[in-house]
Amino acid sequence: MTAPVVVRAPAKVNVQLAVGGLRPDGFHDLANVFLAVGLYDEVTATPADRLRITAAGPDADQVPLDESNLAARAALALARRYGIPADVRLHIAKDIPVAGGMAGGSADAAAALLACDTLWGTGASRAELLDICAELGSDVPFSLVGGAALGRGRGELLEPLETGGTFHWVFAVADGGLSTPAVYRECDRLREDSGHGYTAADLPDPQPSPRLLEALRTGDAPALAGALSNDLQPAALSLRPALADTLRTGTEAGALAALVSGSGPTCAFLAEGANAAKAVAEALMASGTCRTARVTSGPAPGATVLG
Ligand code: C5P
Repeated sequence: MTAPVVVRAPAKVNVQLAVGGLRPDGFHDLANVFLAVGLYDEVTATPADRLRITAAGPDADQVPLDESNLAARAALALARRYGIPADVRLHIAKDIPVAGGMAGGSADAAAALLACDTLWGTGASRAELLDICAELGSDVPFSLVGGAALGRGRGELLEPLETGGTFHWVFAVADGGLSTPAVYRECDRLREDSGHGYTAADLPDPQPSPRLLEALRTGDAPALAGALSNDLQPAALSLRPALADTLRTGTEAGALAALVSGSGPTCAFLAEGANAAKAVAEALMASGTCRTARVTSGPAPGATVLG
């Protein structure tokens, strides 16, 4: 009997998400600065008679258990590449908010890929794994790699970034998710309606902020707070106006800065330290402007085999 393989993979926050033009393939060019944070999903791979997905955790009822699940698609992609059957049970212990803008589905895909590679002894190289990750979704390569990285292209072309310390964060989890394609569509619509004389297809190439990269490199939280930006935030707020109250609550409670995480609706708050983060989380929980608030820090490691 082969022993189960357990892999955990982190959530992310985009400390900069600069969105460029809509490409002919339906994606947007990005300058996407990812930071992995210490909220994790855990995927356990066990031999089975066929591909089976199970999920546990507070949001488990929102996790699809069929082949639309990114973890299932990761197992199928690896099996296809090596010409073997994807006979595996993948159990997802879900702690990252579902459809929350924190790459929970991408974390599950990266974790499942690494778990199946280990369970089946396929011995795929890092480059092959990253290649499969990029096929599965724009954020999946980062979930494998973790730490901090600049994502170009649609977010899948990664350059690792140096970080000079630990950043303390609070995440306000909303009731219900937001659809990533819907948020990108709303971003295009708002830009086209804003009358700046451009259409989404001919925006300049998005660039990373030198100030932001320097703040990450030196571990300077106040400087990072001043440089955080998310081009999807107006779109997320347009689709979910109540998020403005959540952002304001965290800022008034002492956060250095607040922004929507990725395509939302999770809101991210950067704090000066662990105690400040705790105070921000308590204020958010008491305010009723979110379902729950989670305190964590980053950078966190990418997908890791635990045993
Ligand atoms: O790559 P992923 O499956 O995560 O993308 C989900 C959707 O988000 C895409 O179908 C697209 O609508 C949108 N997206 C985008 N530009 C990106 C990444 C995602 O428009 N760079």
